[in-house]
Amino acid sequence: MKLKIGYLELGTNLCLSPLAGYTNLPFRRTVREIGGCGLATTDLVNARSLLENNRRALELVATSPDDRPWAVQLFGAVPSEMRDASKKCEDFGANSVDINMGCPVRKVCKVGGGSAMMTELGKTANLVKGMVDAVKIPITAKMRLGWDEKNLTAPDLAKALEEAGVSAIFVHGRTRQQGFSGRVSLEGIAAVVASVKVPVIGNGDVTTPEGAKRMMEETGCAGVSVGRGAFLNPWIFRATAHYLETGKLMAEPDFEERVRVMNRHLDRNIDFFGEERGCVLFRKVIPWYARRFGPSSEFKKAAVRISKRADYEKALGEYRVWRKQFLDEKGELLEKFAPSKLEAVFAGDGPLERSEIPVPKGPVENW
Ligand SMILES: Cc1cc2nc3c(=O)[nH]c(=O)nc-3n(C[C@H](O)[C@H](O)[C@H](O)COP(=O)(O)O)c2cc1C
Repeated sequence: MKLKIGYLELGTNLCLSPLAGYTNLPFRRTVREIGGCGLATTDLVNARSLLENNRRALELVATSPDDRPWAVQLFGAVPSEMRDASKKCEDFGANSVDINMGCPVRKVCKVGGGSAMMTELGKTANLVKGMVDAVKIPITAKMRLGWDEKNLTAPDLAKALEEAGVSAIFVHGRTRQQGFSGRVSLEGIAAVVASVKVPVIGNGDVTTPEGAKRMMEETGCAGVSVGRGAFLNPWIFRATAHYLETGKLMAEPDFEERVRVMNRHLDRNIDFFGEERGCVLFRKVIPWYARRFGPSSEFKKAAVRISKRADYEKALGEYRVWRKQFLDEKGELLEKFAPSKLEAVFAGDGPLERSEIPVPKGPVENW
């Protein structure tokens, strides 16, 4: 299914959600090469840092010709900075600019950006209008359902932003107070869909093609954005696009295909960040791939020490040997060691533990 955001026509209605520290250029290119991703967004970028040409901010907006269409996600609370940063993104060739309104990290809320924006509708609408008026590319907004369950401000905010000129709304179906606990509320997303005419892209806990379809059917959202599910399974966009088009599920990629893609992802990390930093940053990526390998404790243990490509090759080689004990004579993983089937579990469904996709630890644990 296609999706139009302003004048921007996307090949599919499936988007990659920003995951700070993860959705860098190497990962976006990896996902895009597999296929099915209609739009990918950078990690959030501080508008002021971008205007100041801060090295880290420039690294976050780095792109390549195969990283299209791409959106830059900005955060900030100073209207002139958000306006000028949007212009700069347009000059860099960004296809749209997304405004972060759903980030529950204190650092972002303290300066008035992130979820704090949702409590001050008028001020926020003005800031957004300034950005919309300054550029030709579409401006979108990403929000949560509200501050807490007593303040479900997303439908009102979405309406105010639509009036200010945003071309689409991305909504993660949890409140700021929930963090990543509990479940995504499809009802909450549906309320946002009902409040505006611009496309609403639903987000949260989607890990399968069926989950994406269900989110669209039950909320009426025009598309689905996937974050952690794409890290667990970079094939999710291709598989979901295929499912939405044909009603049929594709075969899951096998171990060798997953390893092939993981290798390419590492190559791109090294190209982009240099060998040592690329490998060190890849330490936190490996466990996501490994979750779908079956037993992988030995590989994960070795992964936290890699600093060179050769370390990675050695760890992978030793893991291949160790993994043989879990294989049958044809080299297939024995049934009892197969990773559990991925499932998106929404409000009211099944035992809670099953819905829990890991929230990566580290400086981003509050997302
Ligand atoms: C590690 C991590 C980093 C995130 N970084 C951002 C970010 O930079 N901007 C943003 O709007 N949301 C961010 N999010 C929220 C995700 O985009 C998404 O809304 C949320 O994870 C729910 O979707 P999912 O269940 O598909 O992951 C982050 C989430 C995680 C787990």
